[in-house]
Amino acid sequence: MGVDIESICGGKGTCGKCKVRIEEGFWGNYGIRSHMDNLSPIGEAEKKMLTPRQQHDGYRLACQARIHGDVVVFVPEETAVGKQVVRKAAREIPIKLKPAVRKYYVEMVSPTLHDTCGDWERLQAELGKSLNLSDLAIDYPVLHRLQNVIRRENWKVTVSVWMNREVIKIEPGLVEKAYGLAVDIGTTTVAVYLCDLDTGEVVATASMINPQVAYGEDVITRISYSVTREDGLRSMNRAIIKGLNQLAGQAAAKARIKRSDIVDMTVVGNTCMHHIFLNLDPQYLGRSPFSSGIHHSIDVKARDLGLKISPGAYVHILPVEASFVGADNVGVLIAEEPYHQDDMVLIIDVGTNGELILGNRDRLIASSCATGPAFEGAGIKYGLRAAPGAIEKIRIDPDTRDVRFKVVGEENWNTGSGARGICGSGIIDAVAQLFAAGIIDKTGRFSTDLDCPRLRATEDGPAFVIAWAGETSIDQDIVVCQQDIRNLQLAKGAMYAGAKIMMRHLGVERLDKIIMAGAFGSYIDKESAAIIGLFPDCTQQNVFAVGNAAGAGARIALLNVDKRVEAVEMACQVEYIELAAEPTFGKVFSQAMWFPHMKDSFPHLKHLPRRKVAR
Ligand code: FES
Repeated sequence: MGVDIESICGGKGTCGKCKVRIEEGFWGNYGIRSHMDNLSPIGEAEKKMLTPRQQHDGYRLACQARIHGDVVVFVPEETAVGKQVVRKAAREIPIKLKPAVRKYYVEMVSPTLHDTCGDWERLQAELGKSLNLSDLAIDYPVLHRLQNVIRRENWKVTVSVWMNREVIKIEPGLVEKAYGLAVDIGTTTVAVYLCDLDTGEVVATASMINPQVAYGEDVITRISYSVTREDGLRSMNRAIIKGLNQLAGQAAAKARIKRSDIVDMTVVGNTCMHHIFLNLDPQYLGRSPFSSGIHHSIDVKARDLGLKISPGAYVHILPVEASFVGADNVGVLIAEEPYHQDDMVLIIDVGTNGELILGNRDRLIASSCATGPAFEGAGIKYGLRAAPGAIEKIRIDPDTRDVRFKVVGEENWNTGSGARGICGSGIIDAVAQLFAAGIIDKTGRFSTDLDCPRLRATEDGPAFVIAWAGETSIDQDIVVCQQDIRNLQLAKGAMYAGAKIMMRHLGVERLDKIIMAGAFGSYIDKESAAIIGLFPDCTQQNVFAVGNAAGAGARIALLNVDKRVEAVEMACQVEYIELAAEPTFGKVFSQAMWFPHMKDSFPHLKHLPRRKVAR
């Protein structure tokens, strides 16, 4: 019925986010009698996820309960998928222009009885003579249209030439503008940047939640969906192609052009998204030895992929580094260019799957760590994606332990009563502030002896109230509980441990610069990230949030073909470290779960008030 329901585990019955309530009785307006007996009996997964009180109140998991008759279903606000705020705005980046596709205007001499050279040969000769383009090929469907098109404007045409090798489009008369689309396929969000290929300007952007979210929230769930369903890969491939066609249409409409005016496209995405986009089986990415179908970059005709841009256009997919370090990471590399720097740089892409790059011009290593979905607000009792109503910033007064918060979609702090839950940046803030205010200790345990009305015992252990029921739209207190803190510790511990092992590999003691990439990274408070120990110590001035660097990489590759070559070289040069194979990983990880760390020192946090951080 078009009601979107949260489904973080992809319908496996393990996340508990899809709770709905059955309303029993006769409903005159629908003419039906709704009864619990019209559903399959409550199963084990539901018993685990629903408290006895919820079971008594008629709650069920939407993904588990089967409908055998009429029922009226109430979808609580926290279960309905909010329209996620897709934070992938394009940032200003200087790019030297050298696009793959250029448009050329050509005037030809029409044939006579004494000059019956073929139309294509005539165009080829003219392109060779006036523009010095030789050995050109022509896309077969373009050849099909050639005869009619060149006659429409009296032998004057504009041809789009790809890589000085192939004519991919032909239009009657003079057409000045050429457009390309840079695409970033994230596990959760998809963003497209429509660019003018002559000026490099971003003329329109569009974004959406990745439609594959319906098949599972993270890459592992999607890989298993492709394995367990016969048409799993096809469904997910169709979903992303349809989504991209929609986004291309939206961006084109904003720029007042036609979708078919887009003559080039570049794509980045993690290895799983890359495979599903190319309709390549992702199952081998998920099992040892984790090999991918292709590492190298590849150019595929848009029409072969089902993309409805100019049909002869090529889609350039950037190379992948390893099974869990994908083309998105290569995009980050060519955008940030650590290989041109002397500083020891750590780039972290914070997401469901954390990706890390460490090094400088001498050597670069990369790794990835499964951080779990806590940073996206999943696995957190009141966790939400960054949708309107999600608490995104939190401050706790260390003396009064009073809380101020800011909600996505609201201008000011603590205004209105629209809070529905807490998103990833809010959770990081909450935990950092709880720690800084002495409400939790270094190990993450609540200091239960504090006299504070917000701190209370619940059936899940101690919990701290961030928003009182009256400040929310769900009529419940929004709390951070002990399990939430544990889940965040697992995620941040994995990031930190990854960085630490990589530093050991390079024999590095300290970091000169930290770059937080990824749309989510831009919204994390730098100080909160440092306080919880998301990464090793570094001066705050040298911690940068660069936004969607993967998307920036896709734009750079769209506008400069030399960068496509550089991307391939770098993907081959970066050494991949498999963290799971590190014998010390377990120990490093458990130490990194402490706030900010069990043993490491943080001289750059010394400026914070004494109570704030135990050093
Ligand atoms: S329990 Fe996760 S979608 Fe139903």
